[in-house]
Amino acid sequence: MLDTVSWIIFTLPPSSNSTIVSHDGRAITIDGQRKILLSGSIHYPRSTTEMWPDLINKAKEGGIDTIETYVFWNAHEPLRRQYDFTGNLDLVRFIKTIQDAGLYAVLRIGPYVCAEWNYGGLPVWLHNIPGIELRTANGPYMDEMKNFTTLIVDMMKKEKLYASQGGPIIISQIENEYGNVMTSYGDAGKAYIDWCAKMADSLDIGIPWIMCQQKDAPQPMINTCNGWYCDSFTPNNPNSPKMWTENWTGWFKNWGGKDPHRTAEDVAYAVARFYQTGGTFQNYYMYHGGTNFGRTAGGPYITTSYDYDAPLDEYGNLNQPKWGHLKELHNVLKSIEKTLTYGNISTSDLGNDISATIYATNDTSSCFISNSNTTTDATVNFQGSKYNVPAWSVSILPDCKNEVYNSAKVNTQTSVMVKKSNEAESEPSSLKWVWRPENVDETVLHGKGDVAASQLIDQKVTNDVSDYLWYMTSVNIKDDDPIWSDNMTIRVNGTGHVLHAYINGEHIGSEWATYGIFNYVFEKKVKLNPGKNQISLLSATVGLQNYGPNYDEVQSGLPGPVELIGRKGDERVIMDLSAHKWVYKVGVSGIDDNKLYTEDSRNETKWYVEDLPTNRMMTWYKTTFKAPLGKEAVVLDLQGLGKGFAWVNGHNIGRYWPSFLAQEDGCSTDACDYRGEYDDKKCVYNCGQPTQRWYHVPRSFMTNDVNTLILFEEFGGNPSLVNFQTVEVGTACGNAYENNHMELSCHGRPISAIKFASFGDVQGTCGSLQKGTCQANNDASSIVQKACVGKETCSVKASEEVFGATGCAGDVAKRLVVEAVC
Ligand code: GAL
Repeated sequence: MLDTVSWIIFTLPPSSNSTIVSHDGRAITIDGQRKILLSGSIHYPRSTTEMWPDLINKAKEGGIDTIETYVFWNAHEPLRRQYDFTGNLDLVRFIKTIQDAGLYAVLRIGPYVCAEWNYGGLPVWLHNIPGIELRTANGPYMDEMKNFTTLIVDMMKKEKLYASQGGPIIISQIENEYGNVMTSYGDAGKAYIDWCAKMADSLDIGIPWIMCQQKDAPQPMINTCNGWYCDSFTPNNPNSPKMWTENWTGWFKNWGGKDPHRTAEDVAYAVARFYQTGGTFQNYYMYHGGTNFGRTAGGPYITTSYDYDAPLDEYGNLNQPKWGHLKELHNVLKSIEKTLTYGNISTSDLGNDISATIYATNDTSSCFISNSNTTTDATVNFQGSKYNVPAWSVSILPDCKNEVYNSAKVNTQTSVMVKKSNEAESEPSSLKWVWRPENVDETVLHGKGDVAASQLIDQKVTNDVSDYLWYMTSVNIKDDDPIWSDNMTIRVNGTGHVLHAYINGEHIGSEWATYGIFNYVFEKKVKLNPGKNQISLLSATVGLQNYGPNYDEVQSGLPGPVELIGRKGDERVIMDLSAHKWVYKVGVSGIDDNKLYTEDSRNETKWYVEDLPTNRMMTWYKTTFKAPLGKEAVVLDLQGLGKGFAWVNGHNIGRYWPSFLAQEDGCSTDACDYRGEYDDKKCVYNCGQPTQRWYHVPRSFMTNDVNTLILFEEFGGNPSLVNFQTVEVGTACGNAYENNHMELSCHGRPISAIKFASFGDVQGTCGSLQKGTCQANNDASSIVQKACVGKETCSVKASEEVFGATGCAGDVAKRLVVEAVC
């Protein structure tokens, strides 16, 4: 009897509410129905568990139905077979948060992920396994990759998180953009990707697998596209739908780099073009970029902020108009889902880069008209009506008659975010600092370390447990040595990313790389003593390489040679120290041995109140502060500091480096032209300013009581201007084309004043708006004031009935434009 019962249970479907996810050549199907899917990337470790529900709900409100994330192997398995799924690494909780919001999930396991994440997500201990070669047909690597992938799959299965079990995960990815680098691995590369496909398939997750940027993806893998535009992409199998896994909503930033900006109009154009040309699944990379806390930033040289100019900013605020303009687009696309996924597609070329596409089922039809010309606006005659289609834009006509959306006509407000000083709690002057030196004596005077080798090592040998590695050696030189001269130098070849050189306890200089050129030669005059001399070189990495063929092999630290050079007249005598006995010490003592960033009372007495130093390298600073009042996101303004790490109540908020200024040249001077292909060189800002001055301090890192901020300053800086600020909407500029509603919001605070309002052919951009040549004859400002001031949100129709006649010519696109103070 018992046997029969257990037999019945065993053969029941995995879950009574399981969802069947499959696909055909047109779309992903859910329970047999083709779907238009609008997905957004939110990487769980780049925010906090407390932020997740809000981020996911804002995505949902923005018309997103799927949340995508990578899985970050090196965060979960920092040491071999020692796992961490706690706090913001709680992947199960993240997926359940998505499920609670009623959204689908896409799990891109990788487990190589790129993602501007340290070492592309692979644990550095892999590199140190004898005989291993990463991302190729190599037994030890494939064993480890399979082990981790299986662990994740089993964890999802156990929690019933796959759609096939009633969970939210509808799609999963194996590897990442391997096709971009595959040729460098020869035949082994091809064998590896085939193995990846088989391995993934064998895990039996009951939902489709994808491979991105993999033209030869073996069936049943679906190959997908990544890029700023994917309208011309075609999958490699007639049974694979056209899917876009990464629509880059902006770009990442590196130390020394400028602030990227991709316009809402251009992102919307790319999305609309994709769905015009038969696409059915699209994912924004990123929808929320977030923060590279701790040592998670990759690169090298990726900044702590991973804002990405995404629809939700680093702190989780709406990035307007991008968020709202895309929301409108999503609503329109969803409203025609059936026609887009089941209709017959016919496209006609109307000349001058204009094309019209009709999706038609038996009883409905929906149309797209696109103008890919980069400069010329067009008036298009289509099925007996005239449409104004601006250059580089797509119009959507859900009924093939009425334009309800055009990617270049933005009816969403622009929000200008500002940082406000937290006057109530901690004015800059109120931060009282104590300090202590980093103890470098043991290393710079005595060369004391943990291990010795007769060679210069790649810093990865130390498993990347710290940014820092001391390379120490001593040389005996007599004053009758051939090298001895008054004009001696030390020369160090480094691959980075930062070097601090000490001779006999004295700091003689530092060197660091610039993005893209990580090799440098450091050469500095030295004064040696007759007899023994101590050479101590501190190498600091700034995020390990995350992309490229064999990226994992790129050297870090000081591969050498390290040389002493003596000069007598024209004659140079070189002493190569590379094969000397080098003593190594991993980490700096304050971080890696003594954990001075923790609230350990044993450290209390060792901090000094007097003689607070400035511009002193290798210095610790500590202060206490009250969290800013309110709910707005909090940032730490680190202007005046050099480079280092900051901790709030023991949470590492990431590397800081405000002294590294963004390049002087190449910034956009005026408003950015959305027309024409975007790339990361277009529309960049912040030239000559600190690459990153503000650092996110999530609310959950602070208490309502006294909080502690601790800085490890590596280069030397002045903490006197450091302060906490909140991020708020400063100005909101509403914009609506005729017959649309101008909606304004100060994101939860009342609108305090109207600085500008006009209905007509308004010129300029938010902050510098001007009346055009024609405008409505009623007083637009007072109409808008009445409707908006004192309210948190308001809505006003952009029409001549409300504002009076404009006298604008017939072909002028009239807009109601308002600048409000929040
Ligand atoms: C892609 C990669 C992503 C990310 C992106 C740039 O090539 O798949 O992980 O690195 O580039 O942000």
